[in-house]
Amino acid sequence: MSKLTDDILSNIDIVDIISKYVNLKKSGSNYSGLCPFHNEKTPSFMVSEEKQIYKCFGCGAGGNAINFIMEIEKIDFWDGIKILSKDAGIDISSYQHKKEDFDKKAHFRERIKKLNSYATKYFQTQINDANTAQKYLMEDRKLDQDLINSFQIGYAPNNFFDIVQYLKDKGFSKEEMLESGLIREGNSGDLYSFFRDRIMFPIKDHIGNIVAFAGRYIQEKENSPKYLNISSTVLYDKSKILYGIDLAKKNIKTFGEIIVVEGYMDVIALHKLGKGVGVATCGTALTVEHIKLLKRHTDNIIFCFDDDQAGISATIRGLKNAWIQGVYPKIMILPEGYKDIDDFVKNSKKLEYQQVDGFEHICKHLKKQYDIQSPVGRKNFINDIFDLLEALEDYSILSFYLEKVSSYLSINYDILFRQFKSFLKSSKKNSTNKKNNNDFDNEEDKKYLLASIFYNSFLERNELNTNQIKNHIKVFDDILEYFPESIIYKVKYNISEEHKQKILEHQLWREKQFEQLTNEKKERILLDFLKRQIQELSKFLYKSNKIQQSKKTEIFENIKNLVKQ
Ligand code: UTP
Ligand code: MN
Repeated sequence: MSKLTDDILSNIDIVDIISKYVNLKKSGSNYSGLCPFHNEKTPSFMVSEEKQIYKCFGCGAGGNAINFIMEIEKIDFWDGIKILSKDAGIDISSYQHKKEDFDKKAHFRERIKKLNSYATKYFQTQINDANTAQKYLMEDRKLDQDLINSFQIGYAPNNFFDIVQYLKDKGFSKEEMLESGLIREGNSGDLYSFFRDRIMFPIKDHIGNIVAFAGRYIQEKENSPKYLNISSTVLYDKSKILYGIDLAKKNIKTFGEIIVVEGYMDVIALHKLGKGVGVATCGTALTVEHIKLLKRHTDNIIFCFDDDQAGISATIRGLKNAWIQGVYPKIMILPEGYKDIDDFVKNSKKLEYQQVDGFEHICKHLKKQYDIQSPVGRKNFINDIFDLLEALEDYSILSFYLEKVSSYLSINYDILFRQFKSFLKSSKKNSTNKKNNNDFDNEEDKKYLLASIFYNSFLERNELNTNQIKNHIKVFDDILEYFPESIIYKVKYNISEEHKQKILEHQLWREKQFEQLTNEKKERILLDFLKRQIQELSKFLYKSNKIQQSKKTEIFENIKNLVKQ
């Protein structure tokens, strides 16, 4: 482990860090709670204060505080370090040089982040000289200077090469410029600006790194879309990024909800209207990854998409992805005559809206779309509804909704329910196997578990240290000598940081598994486990021609004695 990692980990308490995300309860010498990395109803997520590690026995997630922050915030190592260094009260600027040689990829990402912030500054300066852009933002869109500043909105001038020169002067390489997506390469190898004569919106991730840009034309351009977007880069995967999340996150305590809107301008409009909890996807549908990102902050999600066919499709897709994750977004209904939130800003009106249940909203729309008095209309209606309901995991909600459908259509509930079940059966999607999260079934994990028994003094300070177990360990130890490649051998004689970490996690697991058991039961598990391992290794031993026959005989004698016991 690096000095920096060490310094950070020794200045924080993992229990404090994780408590910010998970409701932890003391359980024996450890803490437990509901795992934030998978859906569960009974806690299998453990945190050890003593060992400063966490482990989920449901999905297998585990590690130290840095691993936790990386996984929960979906960030890379360096962003994790940045966050934790604040908790640790460590100034990381003096470590900066080390960071650069730590990991080439992380370094590259850091460079693109830096490039993006320089570019943002560049676009921000350019807007001062761009009258049309300023006029557009302030007069047409009614944004004030504060808003323009806090969203760091800028302007890309109608010019191919200035920004290339600017970035070159700042020391960025061709490779870095191209990766950022801001710069393109022409056929003759010349570099030029992708965005020209466009209002520039920097797109940030949830911790405020600028990861991409969107550029809007001021006046309609022929053969050119309203918004130009950067395609994916080492920083930017649009299926995981929500515009505005960095700011919405900060306001969530005040409002207790997040509003998902259709575009960049709607997010900004919400801020203007005093409700800075808007987020938008960057020209894509709402994915499961987006929902996961939102769910980390609140379960109160409100969708506000246009009231047209595209908006309804977006709502349906979004609802499905949310339901799969166990969240049930509401739908924002704007007063008659308002197309989107942006409309309120233009009329400098106070934002007013109603909230309705997502499913009911869709039903209402589908009832309008299909004539549910006709057989074909009913069939289409039911099909669309079933397709949506398939995403529901919660039976009580499912039956609640089916009851509504049964009353809309005047169908007997039991008949409808049976119909839904046969729909599920025939649905192909349903057969795509759901992941069975039993990570501890895998062989490597079992070996770590055994290694953890060897590694710590568990047996010494425990009543389990019976003669029978001792004898088994002794024999196993003898065999082990011939398997220097095995995990247990490495752990015993030559333990690395990585192994140490794994062992700690498995100790935690064992403690959890063993907590409730009687000593007899514990002994039996341990013995079964050892016996199986001895059996397995002895098979290899038997076949091996590298081991002297006399040694083989001796070991098998010992095994025979064990069996007799
Ligand atoms: P809209 O056309 O509704 O844009 O597209 P908007 O945000 O209301 O734009 P304004 O208000 O006219 O400025 C909604 C979203 O769809 C994506 C953008 O993310 C936009 O915010 N979009 C739209 C594109 O990516 N490219 C386009 O050409 C148009
Ligand atoms: Mn708009």
